[in-house]
Amino acid sequence: MIEFKGVSFAYEDIPVLKDVNFKIETGEYVGIIGPNGGGKTTLLKLILGFIKPTSGSILMSEDCPAHVPQGRIHDRKFPISVLELVGLGLLKTRNWKPGAIQALEEVGLSSYADKSFAALSGGQLQRALIARALVSKPKLLLLDEPTANLDTGAQEDIHTLLKKLKKDITILMVSHDLQTIIKEVDRILLVQGTITPTMPKDVCEHFAMGLYHKPLLGKDKS
Ligand SMILES: Nc1ncnc2c1ncn2[C@@H]1O[C@H](COP(=O)(O)OP(=O)(O)O)[C@@H](O)[C@H]1O
Ligand SMILES: [Mg+2]
Repeated sequence: MIEFKGVSFAYEDIPVLKDVNFKIETGEYVGIIGPNGGGKTTLLKLILGFIKPTSGSILMSEDCPAHVPQGRIHDRKFPISVLELVGLGLLKTRNWKPGAIQALEEVGLSSYADKSFAALSGGQLQRALIARALVSKPKLLLLDEPTANLDTGAQEDIHTLLKKLKKDITILMVSHDLQTIIKEVDRILLVQGTITPTMPKDVCEHFAMGLYHKPLLGKDKS
């Protein structure tokens, strides 16, 4: 579904990713981990086509990935309902309501459709943003730290939801929650200036405890 061939990327003269090579197959659930500033968000932006590689090439079989961006929505006063927020994922379609209602059902928020989105908890808002991504029926879903700043219960809700979705959608998720991610995903991309594909079972304990070190080069070249 995605193939990076010798991709490098720099913001102006600040190199972020160097000679990146990896493939993502259709149907995989991939966790993206690595230290702050390592290039995780930059990787998602390259896949989305928001930015272009400085050198190398990116092959994609899916044109329109859906995206749940990093960070929080600051202006909770924005005067729209939960249903309308989800409908924003389908702006080109006049009759967006049935799709938005279905997407809210998928994330378990049907009963909030007519509420102001300001009324949602952090976890519910994150699920509403996932619904907004799902409404366009994407084959590829990119999530940038969807469980950051959520309490444990809300994090579990998101992981349960993604486990359900992964049957139909290829998922790439950036997360700092390594303990959880190594249990949930099929494969891991370690992003730290370079990208090292790793199997969850090979993520060492230091790593899972948040002590990052040099890329695990040579461990898995697939
Ligand atoms: N728009 C930008 N302009 C210049 N530098 C940037 C920009 N966005 C990110 N960077 C830099 O690129 C590096 C990688 O950032 P990012 O991909 O956001 O890392 P991560 O998501 O892994 O924390 C960081 O050093 C960051 O400061
Ligand atoms: Mg980031």
